[in-house]
Amino acid sequence: MREFDVVGHAAEIIRRGGIVAFPTETVYGLGADAFAPLAVARIFEVKNRPYFDPLIVHVASPRDLDHLVTDVPAMAKSLIDRFWPGPLTLVLSKQSEVPDIVTAGLPTVAVRMPKHPMALGLIEKAACPIAAPSANPFGYLSPTTAEHVRDQLGDQVDLILDGGPCQVGVESTILSFSEEMPRLLRPGGVTLEEIERVIGRVEPCSNKEGMPGAPGMLPRHYAPRTPILLDREATVRDSVKHKKIGLLAYREPREAAPFHHVEVLSMKGDPREAAANLFAAIRRLDTMDLDLIVAETVPEEGLGRAIMDRLRRASRRDGYAKDEHVES
Ligand code: TXA
Ligand code: MG
Repeated sequence: MREFDVVGHAAEIIRRGGIVAFPTETVYGLGADAFAPLAVARIFEVKNRPYFDPLIVHVASPRDLDHLVTDVPAMAKSLIDRFWPGPLTLVLSKQSEVPDIVTAGLPTVAVRMPKHPMALGLIEKAACPIAAPSANPFGYLSPTTAEHVRDQLGDQVDLILDGGPCQVGVESTILSFSEEMPRLLRPGGVTLEEIERVIGRVEPCSNKEGMPGAPGMLPRHYAPRTPILLDREATVRDSVKHKKIGLLAYREPREAAPFHHVEVLSMKGDPREAAANLFAAIRRLDTMDLDLIVAETVPEEGLGRAIMDRLRRASRRDGYAKDEHVES
């Protein structure tokens, strides 16, 4: 008997206008045919995502860009050669055929070629580019296992492809080519250092007029239900002595007391391992009925930039502060 081709089945669902959750190397995505506006609209509904927040279009080969973008600048080409397939998203000027619901009416479209074989197989078999945000309710932690998706969106999606835990664990880096100089919109799986080694200096995220770098980069994001405090000062622990506190430790902690539970991102302090464990560790802490999660800060270099970006957003309780460094 032939083995059931689950990826082929998922592709068929996409071709018929359905929505499918699928693994990528960064986080799980919730995908639809990028050229089917009604299917894409269902993604927004299921996620409860505001329509001003555009989606990333996933391709199976750089050749697929012909239908999506008008031009690939030389620097973007070099980055594609070096980092695709992989966790790098490029914002390029779009072809007029790309539906407005995908790009939130912007003249640009965000594109990336994921590395996970199941994601590539799905796009190839569906024979269309796949528009997909992370497969979580808007504002909540991104899923890094099929189980996370099932817990939160299970009955609302047509199928969940299980490709195991995501290896990178934080979302793709987003780089925009809509201005003269390339600009970083979101730190992620490919580090700024790696990018600058290929194309030279990149503009940092801008906070002009209090606008987020990418339309969806809201200050409070990736947030669990339990409050998170960034452990910048040691005093934090004293001020919350009598509460039930969990610790999100970057590396092996010196002492577990006074914490109710400790999650260690990487015993040896390896940023790759820490990124891969980040969202699942916060989720576990979030199920423990804690009063507070204290998160250790990590050095802001390499992947540490993406980790700190997610931790800052997860810890925000309030609205948006203009002077905050966060590349919101
Ligand atoms: O790793 C990832 O990028 C994952 C996997 C599933 O590929 N996807 C992901 O998608 O993180 P999402 O929707 O959670 O985040 C996409 C971000 C949003 O902040 C959105 O505002 C920004 O990309 N974005 C999309 N299109 C854009 C555009 N044309 N210009 C600027 N930002 C854009
Ligand atoms: Mg997301």
